[in-house]
Order: sequence, then structure tokens, then C-alpha cells
Amino acid sequence: MKSNSYRLEWLLLIVMGLALAVTLYVYIRAKAELQQQFDVPLTALEVPAGAEVIAEGERLATIRGCFWCHGQALEGQEYFTEAGPGIIAVAPDLTREVRTYSPAEFSRAVRHGVKRDGTSVQPAMPSFAFYNMSDADMGAIIAYIQSLPEQDGYLGQFRLLPTGWFRWVAGKLPPPAALLIDHDAPRVPPAVSGSQEERGRYLAESICTECHGDNGRLRVPNTPDLRIAAAYTREDFFRLMRTGIPMGEREIDYHMKDVSKYRYTHFTDEEVDALYTYFHSMLDAPAESGS
Ligand code: HEC
Ligand code: HEC
Repeated sequence: MKSNSYRLEWLLLIVMGLALAVTLYVYIRAKAELQQQFDVPLTALEVPAGAEVIAEGERLATIRGCFWCHGQALEGQEYFTEAGPGIIAVAPDLTREVRTYSPAEFSRAVRHGVKRDGTSVQPAMPSFAFYNMSDADMGAIIAYIQSLPEQDGYLGQFRLLPTGWFRWVAGKLPPPAALLIDHDAPRVPPAVSGSQEERGRYLAESICTECHGDNGRLRVPNTPDLRIAAAYTREDFFRLMRTGIPMGEREIDYHMKDVSKYRYTHFTDEEVDALYTYFHSMLDAPAESGS
């Protein structure tokens, strides 16, 4: 009897020790990967001044969803990603960050997903889509945020809870945003005075890619290839962008309804027209593989 219960105790101790060792390994590995450094040099960015620039910056920030995640006054908030349990994302107070980061640091965080300390922002921040944003658009957004009153908001950091460490190491969570970006790729030109097609490409590549993805980058589940827009008539496409009501008045996912109603109503008619022209032109191009 006695030796049996000894054996049981030893067995229990070994099992507990093993569980502890595995947890420690997973924790250390997750921690190391979260601390990974990205060597992306800072590039100077001019922040223009004036009421017109600030108003345009507000419009661009609205279209690109900064308020959606960082809060109505950009004061920051805990932001629940759809990555599931074990992950707490905090979209920080931008009114404070814009005062502590230089414009070059701020724009590197937005467009390259690299924070001041050289680590990556977590994938809830769609830097892979913002990569293509032009210097002019980035400058206007910074000018607008600088014009806002400073808030006493959230400055918290992205955190993984214990279930999150395991899911991270098992590859169940999306990778850091900076890993998804080719930091040397040429940006899609803004084509402000270019053709409608080129202008539409810029808008699509720096905005719609946030959810519709591109070249294997992150993609919100169930988002279609945007060539579907070419099946729309121009009138139907305008209605989608203005009201969130799709062709045939079907019920669609709330993401698309909400971005249309709250963000894309701020597109000018020319911009919606440019997007439509671009999606139409994609029909003539050969299908991209792997997306
Ligand atoms: C879909 C949600 C979402 C949208 C849209 C979004 N952000 Fe973020 N952003 C986040 C989250 C979450 C973080 C924190 C990531 C982290 O902790 O690693 C973040 C981080 C940042 C950072 C880096 C903060 C730091 O600590 O270095 C900046 C700067 C920033 N966002 C600016 C913007 C701007 C400007 C816009 C609009 C053009 C924007 N974000 C749109 C969710 C979002
Ligand atoms: C916040 C995420 C998000 C963003 C940003 C986004 N979309 Fe979508 N979009 C979706 C989702 C999700 C669906 C799938 C809706 C469904 O089928 O229920 C969708 C579907 C669509 C459809 C197909 C609608 C249909 O008839 O089934 C079109 C067209 C479309 N999006 C255009 C755009 C354009 C253009 C942009 C950029 C200007 C954009 N989307 C940006 C999430 C997004």
C-alpha cells in the first residue's frame, strides 16, 4: 500500500513538473517573438499646416477607421479583435502619442507597423493596408490629430493571457503586422491628378485591403475578391458605398455595412467613381494567384 502511494506522488510530481516546463517554454518563446525587432529606418515627413489640411485630415482619418478603433476622441480603448480568447489589444491614445512621437516615428508606426522601440504593432492595427498611404495623406492625418485636445486616455499595451501564449506559439494568432509588410516595396502612387483607374487603385490598396486583403495578407473571413464590384452597375456601387445596401438588397456582414455607412459616406463622388472604374479594369487583368 505504502509504496503504491509513494509512486503516485512521484508520478504526480513528474506530470506537474512537465506541465510547468512546457508552460515556461511557451511563455519564453511567445515573449521572445513579441519582442522581435524590426530594422525599418525613419524617414522625414512634412506635416503641412492650415485649416483646410486639418479638415482633410479628419476626413481621411474617418475613411480609414482611426476612430472606429482608437475611440471617438482618439482617446484609445481596449479593442477586441476577432482573433479569439487569450489576446487583449489596446488601441492607444493617439492624442498623446502624436505629442510624444515625432512625425517620422508616428508615420513609421502607422505605415510600417513599427513602434518607437522597434517592435511590431499587433495585427489589429492594419498597417499592412496603410503601407500604401501617401506622404500627403499621412501628413494631413497627423496635422489633424495634432490639432485635437490632448486626452487622458489609454496607453496600454497589447497583452497575451496564458491561453494566448499557447495559441501564439501554435500559430493560431495572426502574426505581428510588421512581418506582413514588404518594407522596401514601392508605394502605390496616390495619382491625385492621374487617371480615374490609377486613383481608384490607390484608394483600394490603401483602404479596402484592410479587410479584403491582398497578396495573401490578412483578410477578414468571408470577404470576397473585390472584382465582385465589377458585377455591380455604377448606381448599385454608389448605393453600397453610401448606405451599405448591396446589389439585390441582400443581408450582408455588418463590417461592410458599417464601413459604408460611417466611413465611406465621406468619400467624394469622384473617389467612388474612381474605385468603380478601377475594379472594372481589374476584370481585364489576369487573375492573381494565391488570394
Ligand atoms: C482595426 C482597428 C484599428 C484601426 C482602423 C486603426 N488602428 Fe491604430 N492601432 C490599433 C491597435 C489595436 C493598436 C495597438 C497595437 C499594439 O499594441 O501593438 C494600434 C496602434 C497604433 C499606433 C502605434 C502605437 C504605438 O504604441 O506605437 C499608431 C500610431 C496608430 N495605431 C495610429 C492609427 C491611425 C492614425 C489610424 C487611422 C489611419 C489607425 N491607427 C487605425 C487598432 C487600429
Ligand atoms: C472592416 C472590413 C471591411 C472593409 C474595410 C471593407 N470591406 Fe467590403 N466587405 C467586407 C465583408 C466582411 C464583406 C462580405 C459581406 C458578406 O458577404 O456578407 C464585404 C463585401 C464587399 C462587397 C461585396 C458585396 C456583395 O454584393 O456581396 C463589395 C463590393 C465590397 N465589400 C467593397 C468594398 C470596398 C470598395 C471597400 C473599400 C472602399 C471595402 N469593401 C472595404 C468587409 C470590409
